[in-house]
Amino acid sequence: MEVGLVAMLRTAWIAATLPILIASMPFSCLNSFHKVVLGFAKRGKVRQSSSKRFTVPQNFFCHFYVVAVVWTTLLLVTTWMYAYKMVPLNVDPFLYPTFASRFTGGSHIISWRKSPAVPIAYRYSVWRSVFLLLLMEVQVVRRLIETIYVFKYSSSARMHIFGYLIGLFFYTAAPLSLCCNNVLEVYKFSLNEVAEFIVKGKKNSLQDLEFDWYEFISSLMRLGWLQWIGAAIFFWGWIHQQRCHDILGSLREHSEQNDEYVIPHGDWFKIVSSPHYLAEIVIYAGLVIVSGGADLTIWLLFGFVVSNLVFAAAETHRWYRQKFENYPKNRLAIIPFLY
Ligand SMILES: NC(=O)c1ccc[n+]([C@@H]2O[C@H](COP(=O)([O-])OP(=O)(O)OC[C@H]3O[C@@H](n4cnc5c(N)ncnc54)[C@H](OP(=O)(O)O)[C@@H]3O)[C@@H](O)[C@H]2O)c1
Repeated sequence: MEVGLVAMLRTAWIAATLPILIASMPFSCLNSFHKVVLGFAKRGKVRQSSSKRFTVPQNFFCHFYVVAVVWTTLLLVTTWMYAYKMVPLNVDPFLYPTFASRFTGGSHIISWRKSPAVPIAYRYSVWRSVFLLLLMEVQVVRRLIETIYVFKYSSSARMHIFGYLIGLFFYTAAPLSLCCNNVLEVYKFSLNEVAEFIVKGKKNSLQDLEFDWYEFISSLMRLGWLQWIGAAIFFWGWIHQQRCHDILGSLREHSEQNDEYVIPHGDWFKIVSSPHYLAEIVIYAGLVIVSGGADLTIWLLFGFVVSNLVFAAAETHRWYRQKFENYPKNRLAIIPFLY
């Protein structure tokens, strides 16, 4: 089933990325296809049409992050509990004989979790998933807060219903892609825990649970240098995205109309028109590095993020240049020095 889920996620990422890549090709025979894809992708300022057909308000963006926060929290809590209880990284080789105790009535949880028979590579892969989900949680919680408190969506800003559905798909599939290699084990474990809780009752279950906070956290500290480099890159993008969103959110502070657009300045706006999209790419590049760079599903997720945001940034850049005569000439669309 896990293989099936992984294949499904990979197929979905490829299916979502391919139309954007084809529409981005500079061939005149693809012009009408480009227009169709753009029609689905346009939102906010670049989608200025009197027709509201098949559109929803741009402030529905907050639905994406409500879904993302609930779903990521569920995956994070269950995966972390599984990792802590079943595959901790502080394996004790002297606990080999405890396998025998499984058959002689010993505590099976203790014997299994500390047993070196569980491959260390598997243990690390589960803890990497925990770390990835933790970073995703940090991202989606901040985005939820921003959509509610920082952005001042204009009343006329809309997005296509198809773009809305793609957004909901994205925030369901992205957290799942970060942990899909062990999600089935986590699911079985969670079902077992719930069943045990129901059978034993609340009091007995809590007595069984000797919770060691140090061990709960310390396995994360044992992850390798690649994970810490990835996390540093993630937070570099995260901080700049937050600053750029603050700048965008403040643009309408002194304006009478809430649907007026102005030229943003400061932070990465000095170099590109869509620095918040650039920062998102940096954030997901950080996640690829945290994953160890060998997980095709996470690479495909990254491929979708890059193609989707580069496509949207090209349109935003075109829009700024058409709207403002005094638009800074040295600003590129999204990739510094390149594009
Ligand atoms: N991971 C992904 O695939 C993915 C996909 C999409 C978005 N995102 C992320 O979500 C975040 C928001 O994306 P978005 O497309 O909604 O951003 P956006 O179109 O730039 O809009 C963000 C907010 O800023 C306002 N705004 C933008 N430019 C403005 C200007 N020149 N003057 C005044 N106000 C302006 C918008 O107003 P209006 O209300 O008038 O539009 C909106 O309220 C980004 O950081 C992006 O990276 C991620």
